[in-house]
Amino acid sequence: TTQVWQLHPNHPDQQIIEKAAAIIKAGGLVAFPTETVYGLGAHGLSSEAVAKIYCAKGRPSDNPLILHVANLQMAVGLSRQLPTAAKLLMETFWPGPLTLVVPGVAEIPREVTGGLDTVAIRMPDHPVALALISAAGIPIAAPSANKSGKPSPTTADHVRTDLAGCIDALLDAGPAGVGLESTVLDLTGAVPVILRPGGVTYEQLKQVLPKVIIDPSVLGEKLPKNQAPRSPGMKYKHYAPTAPMILFTGVPQRVREKLAAHLKELATQGKRVGILASKENIHYYPGEAIVLPLGTRENPATAAASLFELLRQFDKLQVDTILAEGLDTKGIGLAVMNRLQRAATEIVEC
Ligand code: TXA
Ligand code: MG
Repeated sequence: TTQVWQLHPNHPDQQIIEKAAAIIKAGGLVAFPTETVYGLGAHGLSSEAVAKIYCAKGRPSDNPLILHVANLQMAVGLSRQLPTAAKLLMETFWPGPLTLVVPGVAEIPREVTGGLDTVAIRMPDHPVALALISAAGIPIAAPSANKSGKPSPTTADHVRTDLAGCIDALLDAGPAGVGLESTVLDLTGAVPVILRPGGVTYEQLKQVLPKVIIDPSVLGEKLPKNQAPRSPGMKYKHYAPTAPMILFTGVPQRVREKLAAHLKELATQGKRVGILASKENIHYYPGEAIVLPLGTRENPATAAASLFELLRQFDKLQVDTILAEGLDTKGIGLAVMNRLQRAATEIVEC
């Protein structure tokens, strides 16, 4: 059984933190909140402990994990040779939703690195996460606390749905803030590369780095209509709701028209349709569909904060098909579009 502890997000009870840290130190699994999504934590330097993560998530064991630290010293101790840009990035963005891939020390278990000689490190900006890592005194390996392939959990309830019974404890401190995972930035080459867009944006990184590249797989190539579910340049299907999801991208007006036409067709076939649309646009779609508002176009952070919750709501509502509007890739919009593309079974360019 899973022990669930409620905690104040800003002033966590130190006794509960100590109990949770003891579980981590003993090789157990504790799910905890971060500012991005909930993480599934284990002793980051113990092969046996980390192996349990893969088992609980049902995740392939060659996909590497992030080590979470509570201070700079911990981070420095994990890297064989810290790239020059790392220090500046840590000072600027830590604690925060930026994960740095750097050369790792030999002591890091291969269950964490996936056999690579690099390691991904981040300092989360959440009092509960920081208190837990500090109390454990060791880096905590933590993927998102969802079953593999499901949307990442932004509330303790999502974690309970996916992992209750499979983990030792869950620290519930309310909803995560950003709602999408951290930005993963590879610092091992000549130029930093964004492997996964997230809470820290390309624009923010550009302000402190002379050059940043966005990995081409971030916004995958478009798929022709009716092609089978894709795994776009990446090995694993991710973030996906149960129902197939069609993503409409391009000129906003054409997106609305094509989406509405698609809806009409599906409705005629008697299908239960879910629509993911920006607040500005929800009135375009007629009553027979279940329309959930994906934040506002004006403020993509609102879309980021609600996306994973909405994908899970469509699961509960048992829709047959989801039709989703794409949005602008400025700021955190890039991360939202990346997750929408990866959740989609089909992309329609409008
Ligand atoms: O916001 C987050 O990052 C959340 C919270 C819990 O911190 N964690 C998270 O972990 O999203 P996970 O395991 O779902 O995603 C880790 C990402 C994966 O895309 C993985 O491929 C990449 O980090 N990664 C980890 N180690 C790497 C390495 N050595 N080289 C390249 N990519 C790496
Ligand atoms: Mg994940």
